[in-house]
Amino acid sequence: MLSNVIANQEIHTEYGGVVPELASRAHQQNIVPVVQQALQRANIGKNELSAIAFTKGPGLMGSLLIGTSFSKSLSQALQIPLIAVNHMQAHILAHFIEEKEHKKPSFPFLCLTISGGHTEIVKISDYFEMEILGNTIDDAVGEAYDKSAKILGLAYPGGPLIDRYAQKGNPLAYTFTKPKVGKLDFSFSGLKTAILYFIQREVKQNPNFVKENLYDICASIQHTIVSILMEKIENAVKETGINQVAIAGGVSANSEIRKRLKQAENDKNWQTYIPKFEYTTDNAAMIGIVGYYKYLEKAFDANTTTATARLKVDE
Ligand code: KG4
Ligand code: ZN
Repeated sequence: MLSNVIANQEIHTEYGGVVPELASRAHQQNIVPVVQQALQRANIGKNELSAIAFTKGPGLMGSLLIGTSFSKSLSQALQIPLIAVNHMQAHILAHFIEEKEHKKPSFPFLCLTISGGHTEIVKISDYFEMEILGNTIDDAVGEAYDKSAKILGLAYPGGPLIDRYAQKGNPLAYTFTKPKVGKLDFSFSGLKTAILYFIQREVKQNPNFVKENLYDICASIQHTIVSILMEKIENAVKETGINQVAIAGGVSANSEIRKRLKQAENDKNWQTYIPKFEYTTDNAAMIGIVGYYKYLEKAFDANTTTATARLKVDE
């Protein structure tokens, strides 16, 4: 990995969530400087590139189209192959980026793929052989974090903030009922509503409830969410007999899920794979590693390939 440049879009913070139109405008402004910076940091010229990999989906259409058009233009200009990458496969294959002290999973392994848009248990039998075993029937886990944070008046994205405050609180201070869904499936919209009603009820009694108990509230939310994730992945291990477990996606940055998974190495005799922190939330290196494996297979895409907003991890 020679460079991994990330352009954060601060613009969304004041709106409490990603505004698609603003996201695509920011992409439009950032894409040329970011690519230039990536080449500079890697200390290579664009003529030394072998191929261009880009995110085909899933994601926000406007933003995807900017990446798609830019990559097509660059591949045509440089006369090099174009490689379309599935964003969720990229989160998973980020485990294969060459890094000191990071052990790579061997096939088959299970991956809990948790982000702002996805919550899936995936069985990975080979680099591009993936099967979804469990999925959310409503909100994604990152959404549950961000929406809970919004209820508490925290800035977007709230996931990292809840995680930070949770570390100072009592995880058993408040209990929220866990949803009842299929053994390997998830549901988070009920939890969000339960948190909303709980906060509204408490604030009626004490307007300073959130401020006075923020750490305990965050710790209790985090405990509930991470317990659900652990329970489901445990079900998947039992059902498949595969005890190699990885996590991927933005929420895999979460300190509690990382800790609980590590513990499972001793408690449950699992082999666990936790991504390096900078490869958890969206990044270019994870798209690059998928590009690399596709390049080896000569799995190139025609210039007619287009962005797909809803793309499954096994597509
Ligand atoms: O993978 P990602 O960067 O973007 C998507 O593809 O969705 O994931 C972003 C999500 C957000 O919902 C954010 O709140 C969540 O990951 N997230 C976290 C943490 N860091 C990021 N959630 C909980 N704890 C964290 N430390
Ligand atoms: Zn992502």
